[in-house]
Amino acid sequence: MSYPYQITNYDQYKTAYKKSVDDPEGFWADIASHFYWRKRWDKVLEWDFSDYNVKWFQGGKLNITENCLDRHLGMMGNKPAIIWEPNDPEEHHRILTYRELHTKVVQFCNVLKNNGVKKGDRVCIYMGMVPELAIAVLACARMGAIHSVIFGGFSAQSIADRLWDANAEYVITCDGAFRGNKEIPLKSVIDDALIQCRFVKKTIVLTRTRTPVSMIKGRDVWWEDEIKKVETMGNPDFPAEEMDAEDPLFILYTSGSTGKPKGVVHTAGGYMIYTNYTFVNTFQYQPGDIHFCTADIGWITGHSYIVYGPLSAGATSLLFEGIPTWPDAGRFWDIVDKYKVNVLYTAPTAIRSLMGFGLGPVHGKHLDSLKVLGTVGEPINEEAWNWYNENIGKGRCPIVDTWWQTETGGCMISNMAGVTPSKPTYATLPMPGIQPVLMDENGKILEGNDVSGNLCIKFPWPSILRTTYGDHDRCKQNYFSAYPGYYFTGDGCHRDEHGFYRITGRVDDVLNVSGHRIGTAEVENAINMHAGVVESAVVGYPHDIKGQGIYAYVIYTGTHGDESLARQDITLTVSRIIGPIAKPDRIQFVSGLPKTRSGKIMRRILRKIAEGETENLGDTSTLLDPGIVEEIKNGKL
Ligand code: WTA
Repeated sequence: MSYPYQITNYDQYKTAYKKSVDDPEGFWADIASHFYWRKRWDKVLEWDFSDYNVKWFQGGKLNITENCLDRHLGMMGNKPAIIWEPNDPEEHHRILTYRELHTKVVQFCNVLKNNGVKKGDRVCIYMGMVPELAIAVLACARMGAIHSVIFGGFSAQSIADRLWDANAEYVITCDGAFRGNKEIPLKSVIDDALIQCRFVKKTIVLTRTRTPVSMIKGRDVWWEDEIKKVETMGNPDFPAEEMDAEDPLFILYTSGSTGKPKGVVHTAGGYMIYTNYTFVNTFQYQPGDIHFCTADIGWITGHSYIVYGPLSAGATSLLFEGIPTWPDAGRFWDIVDKYKVNVLYTAPTAIRSLMGFGLGPVHGKHLDSLKVLGTVGEPINEEAWNWYNENIGKGRCPIVDTWWQTETGGCMISNMAGVTPSKPTYATLPMPGIQPVLMDENGKILEGNDVSGNLCIKFPWPSILRTTYGDHDRCKQNYFSAYPGYYFTGDGCHRDEHGFYRITGRVDDVLNVSGHRIGTAEVENAINMHAGVVESAVVGYPHDIKGQGIYAYVIYTGTHGDESLARQDITLTVSRIIGPIAKPDRIQFVSGLPKTRSGKIMRRILRKIAEGETENLGDTSTLLDPGIVEEIKNGKL
């Protein structure tokens, strides 16, 4: 498979970019014509950012899995689609060719059908990183069910909230998941969630860890038994369901500045075109390359650059079950060496954590297969960039710093490996089709170069979110109200003298902890659930490895008197309500919070104190009780 729309030099990029702005419809229609459509679209684009509505390729009919699987079978049926590396390096790896993956997806479609799943139903997937996770995702897409994958680090309560929000009646899970030296009892977490979700009709459970589980009669079935039933039926075919380009493909929950995570909705046609286009161009994928994206499929990066982008491009995608530091900190490099990985795509937090182990784990590992390195999820600091460049890329692999979001579906601002210029810590230039705009606080567009402001996008691209599930007003409010007529990203950004973009981090109340998005309001709500807590305020602070750490100021009236026990109780509460990923790194007990006379918490002050600033806290005279600032400063952890 070759990619007629792959850009191979800087001039071509400039030409493509210009065309994408002058004639976006013609530009995307050209690219879309290289995919398999059951019926071609009638209209390329309809859009309105004021009263938010976007539709791409209306009238077009397709199924994304025909593009990810069926269309490759002729020429590439025996080519590896997925290479799976298990958590334990002693366990055997697995390779699924396109033909095998196709067969397994078709089989699992029949399992879903036998269990009552229909087109349009929401299916929650809560699994570890095993090939069956990709199979489950693709089977949903093939039959037109809407998948909602939930990362394994979320708690039962978080799952229950998401199941309610999406009204998901089906769940696919594993008995457990291996992560490093830990075993995560996934099914047992699901059982806790389902106590609150009586509307769930079926749970399909894959055997992975053999952790004991309780299987409830009538509701819970084993994946393996259901596959056997399909085999007994003679493995019937399952032709892909014909989907409208604008039919929802999946929901993925993500945190915003309000307490409740939003269900970001992506649709089949536009998402497919854009993830494929950015996959092929950003990483400069060449047929036969091994692409290793280390993200979890529970996040958007895994959806777009382990599953849909690579598979729609007929690529070989490596799926890794474990973690970078187990059995030792050389795990990534062993995998690169073992499979001769060509493209490695990971998060700055992983790089920083591995840096801490020194060069020992890198020594002796053959990394010469690597051609392209990538990062995603958070700003990369110069030190980590240099370490990655020198010790992993050996100075000869371009690093793509890809900026994007759950809501954008695919990569938005990034250099293209070896094709467009790169600059450490800069995402650099927008992808074709992406029109970034920097705004000042008053909504005035900042023209010219060497300016900093809030990053907005002024024109739709094919994989922009369509809505937030069940609440379109929330979508409008969240993304299209701060700067009317523009999509607001929530990120701050600098445009340098060459017009290169550097993302400086969130400007709203969203934290980025180890590349995971967490809303401060969400963490506060969880802390406030603890019986001894009166009130709390959560801010981020710079953390050497995680990028940002979670700093909580808590007014506590617990009777324990033992602060360290109280801290543990609060931490456990957050784990129960959200999940271990949202645990505060620091908890400072305070007698009050800096509030204005109208009762608003002055987070700016709290943020500065958490960052270690003692002077320049800004104007504190409008505070109800300016004295509290001194107390908080003195008690800083
Ligand atoms: C941040 C992850 C700097 C940003 C794909 C964004 C980045 C949020 C970068 C989205 C990058 C992502 N440089 N910051 N290359 N990539 N971000 O939804 O703040 O999990 O808004 O999507 O991560 O996180 P999300």
